[in-house]
Amino acid sequence: MTVELAPSLLAADHARFGQQAQEVLATGETWLHVDVMDGRFVPNLSFGAEVVRALRPLCPLAFFDVHLMVVEPERYIEPFAAAGAHAITVHQEAAVHLQRTLAAIRETGCLAGVALNPATSPETLRYVLEDLDLVLVMTVNPGFGGQTFLPTAARKVGELAKLRAATGTKFKISVDGSVNVKTAPGLARDGADVLVAGSAIFNHTEGVAAGVAALREVLRT
Ligand code: DX5
Ligand code: ZN
Repeated sequence: MTVELAPSLLAADHARFGQQAQEVLATGETWLHVDVMDGRFVPNLSFGAEVVRALRPLCPLAFFDVHLMVVEPERYIEPFAAAGAHAITVHQEAAVHLQRTLAAIRETGCLAGVALNPATSPETLRYVLEDLDLVLVMTVNPGFGGQTFLPTAARKVGELAKLRAATGTKFKISVDGSVNVKTAPGLARDGADVLVAGSAIFNHTEGVAAGVAALREVLRT
């Protein structure tokens, strides 16, 4: 199953971001998931574009996958694109003018993504499927790592795979929230192209490389 793993830096040791990001790259993985929280769209605060700018020179081969959990996401497209993001994902529930926001992301040269909260239907994206490159299925309520997996929300992976086939569109399906050795195989089987994982990788008792290896192992079977 050729699935991208996107380790989520939210679960990394915030005092050693650079080192932890390099540990991920040393395993051969290239995606780095950057959770941006504003304390309004979600009840938590995380980090800004400067983290991406600071990490870029340390991880020249990395693909920075920025997940904006903010209100008025259109205000943050330029700063993250300028800092070196490769993909910028906004929440469907926060982007009032979603089509315009997706076009603005693509204009920067970044891939444009839309995240769906657990209660939000994929049908809300039917008229912008050609304007986006990635759909992020939240399998937890956004705002924190280490939460419990919501299997009902995970059903959207299969629905999106069908919608993609039926409409001849090419977007990637990414899943975010409590992805681990138990939940990852089913998500990949259902059609996930990218699996975001925080605790499963950065809180693995034997370290980052062991966390990545354990996920890769269950995705091999
Ligand atoms: C939650 C974030 C996730 C989170 C994943 O709002 O969007 O990326 O960091 O962490 P785990 O894998 O621990 O659920
Ligand atoms: Zn995320």
